Amino acid sequence: LNSYDYLVVGSGLFGSVFAHEAALRGKRVKVIEKREHIAGNIYTKEFDGIQVHQYGAHIFHTSDREIWDYVNQFAKFNRYTNSPVANYKGQMYNLPFNMNTFNELWGTRTPEEAFKKIEEQKRAVHLVGQPRNLEEQAISLVGTDIYQKLIKGYTEKQWGKKATELPAFIIRRLPVRFTYDNNYFNDTYQGIPIGGYTQIVEKMLDSDLIDIETNVDFFAHKDRYLGEYPKVVFTGMIDQYFDYKYGELEYRSLRFENEELNVSNYQGNAVINYTDAETPYTRIIEHKHFEFGKGDSGKTIITREYPANWKRGDEPYYPVNDVQNNKLYKQYAKLAARESNVIFGGRLGQYRYFDMHQVIHSALVRVHDEFD
Ligand code: FDA
Repeated sequence: LNSYDYLVVGSGLFGSVFAHEAALRGKRVKVIEKREHIAGNIYTKEFDGIQVHQYGAHIFHTSDREIWDYVNQFAKFNRYTNSPVANYKGQMYNLPFNMNTFNELWGTRTPEEAFKKIEEQKRAVHLVGQPRNLEEQAISLVGTDIYQKLIKGYTEKQWGKKATELPAFIIRRLPVRFTYDNNYFNDTYQGIPIGGYTQIVEKMLDSDLIDIETNVDFFAHKDRYLGEYPKVVFTGMIDQYFDYKYGELEYRSLRFENEELNVSNYQGNAVINYTDAETPYTRIIEHKHFEFGKGDSGKTIITREYPANWKRGDEPYYPVNDVQNNKLYKQYAKLAARESNVIFGGRLGQYRYFDMHQVIHSALVRVHDEFD
């Protein structure tokens, strides 16, 4: 055994919250990270004075006061409010679906007019019984126009499958708002850390009791690590940990294409979704708008986000939590429960789509189980 109490595999939010809390309790922690930088998918990097979200748009939102206070220890947040816009074949629509969207679609002005229009569209399609797929589910919730223009193409690109081949459960609810409110989230607290996300993780890991090594893959020396460290916190892929013994879990991957443009304002909003089927990317992020146009005014950085199938070796961005994969995950979770010296956590370790506030909460629960 070496002198460390914990090996934390992965420097994303889960691993970093755990390492931070362990160090506060006097434990020595080694963090290993296979990428060349810390912070996992919330990593941001500055170019031309603009914080670029390297792994997709990250907007912090929560209604949990404790989590909000927790994260505010590590950064000041601005008042950014997520209000994406959809581009469908050149027509612009406000999101999420609200009175602005309905006005843009149909010219309706009052909640009553909009409500009638949606009900009329839902009735025009004669669906019998339970929706059998995502298409039927979406139409039964919001009618045909919203489905065709704002949901179908986007969802099919995201999942790489036809909406008629996707399960209905992917869309349980489609919030429809009869107010002129473009705020995407309903949460009490929302914002972007001024100066980016990376500083949050840097501060969490800033302790004499924590050592960090990047460019190190746990699987290169798995047995040695398990022999040398009394306890391991593993935030990588749970199926890979068990050598895919029961088969592969399914993930969705993404490809990000960054471009620097010599204009000060390219699209007028941080996030524009491309909801038609023809455009190969799902969205364009213009990073400076997360910070209200900050940065060199003559330049901007945009990122096109392309969904991609996942195969071994690719970055597993999203777990695919359908019935089959969840069943397979349960088998792995049983094996994990028997690894008494290993804590499996985070999006990949627990195979669950966690938002940032949820992953912090989940890590703090594990910390509590471990120490209190
Ligand atoms: P994360 O993946 O961040 O960290 C795991 C780390 O472990 C990685 O750094 C990885 O390299 C490392 N690792 C894996 N295997 C390893 C190995 N074998 N050896 C060493 N290291 C290894 N949330 C939100 O609240 N608002 C938002 O707007 C968004 N937006 C968003 C967009 C996109 C495109 C994605 C993919 C995700 C989001 N999220 C989000 C979710 C958010 O990214 C997520 O909640 C946290 O990053 C999860 O932190 P984890 O620590 O679980 O995983």
